[in-house]
Amino acid sequence: MQAFKLAENIYWVGAIDWNLRNFHGYETEKGSTYNAYLILDEKVTLIDTVKEGFGEEMLARIRSVIDPAKIDIIISNHAEPDHSGCLPLIKRFAPNAQIYTAAGAGVKDLTAYYGDLGYTGVRAGETLSLGKRTLTFVPTPMVHWPDNMVSFLTPDNILFSNDAFGQHYASDERLDTECDLPEAFIQARKYYANIVQPYGMQTGKALAAVAGLPIAAIYPSHGICWTKHIPDILALYKSWVANEYDDTAVIVYDTMWHSTEAMAHAIENAFLACGLKPRLYNLHYCHNSDIIADAMTAKYIAVGSPTLNNNMMPSVASFLCYFKGLTGNKKKSVAFGSYGWGGQSPEQVEKALAECKCEQLLPAIRIAYKPSEEQLDRITADVTAAVKANG
Ligand code: FEO
Repeated sequence: MQAFKLAENIYWVGAIDWNLRNFHGYETEKGSTYNAYLILDEKVTLIDTVKEGFGEEMLARIRSVIDPAKIDIIISNHAEPDHSGCLPLIKRFAPNAQIYTAAGAGVKDLTAYYGDLGYTGVRAGETLSLGKRTLTFVPTPMVHWPDNMVSFLTPDNILFSNDAFGQHYASDERLDTECDLPEAFIQARKYYANIVQPYGMQTGKALAAVAGLPIAAIYPSHGICWTKHIPDILALYKSWVANEYDDTAVIVYDTMWHSTEAMAHAIENAFLACGLKPRLYNLHYCHNSDIIADAMTAKYIAVGSPTLNNNMMPSVASFLCYFKGLTGNKKKSVAFGSYGWGGQSPEQVEKALAECKCEQLLPAIRIAYKPSEEQLDRITADVTAAVKANG
């Protein structure tokens, strides 16, 4: 295991988690990386650590450059265990290293996880001299935990951005100039939608806080580092923070005997008739975290479920629960579903969508047993009219 040289005396010493497939409910089909960075200066400095279980990989990469015992300073930009999990380990190898973290929440969170390892709290604008270089700390609370902060290194002008601008994307390439760039953008979008989206307002403040910095590189705590494509990733974040809509409409459903599925296609025809780009997701096959990534910028969402044992199907309830926690903008919505006798699910979906701050385009659409061609045409006509009426 070797360190990756990013710049003169600055190294990536993190870990690659090729096999990560689930990050507390977020399907990570491309794995992830836990990025830690080593700065060689008069004070040898480590920025963040890695998830527990990956400590030996980090230590091996550090040892390829320097004896870990020579580390003087550890910066913990974020207490979540994927970045702080190896603080106790690295403290054993570098007992004299001083840990700097956000005053208040950072100290509190790290103490809760690891006990007192000796933390120094830093506040907004505080600086720390490493010798020829200086770190300036910028709190970014709730992007996406209370303790988050970023660190800016001068004169190199490198932003250690922690979770912001990250991607769950395992690769041996460390830079945006050498990786599969379209994949990096896809994973950055999915990461924002599934991790950062509920904190768009706070992310906007964080973007404003770093806007005046002459950023030459962004080194996040997951995925590849941004060097050439900084304007692109910043522009994407600005559009996501602004909750901008595109011309897509998402239709999410489960189905037992294809009746609710037929209704989904009738709604698809309505969105097409309105000039929108429908995207259909059968929850039997599609993962919540992928749907959320596409739903983030959709103005319209339709959710359908058959009635199963007097309830919506569990897959639909799971999606709506996930959606409620993450959605960042108000969408126009359609609830629909088929049933045999009880028929509770369309109204249950409608109520759940209202709790997601969606505005109903029309009353919940319900069909007994199997929709006829006439009923499907009626659904298309009604949804088309409702979309056109609401703009
Ligand atoms: Fe990647 Fe919030 O930890």
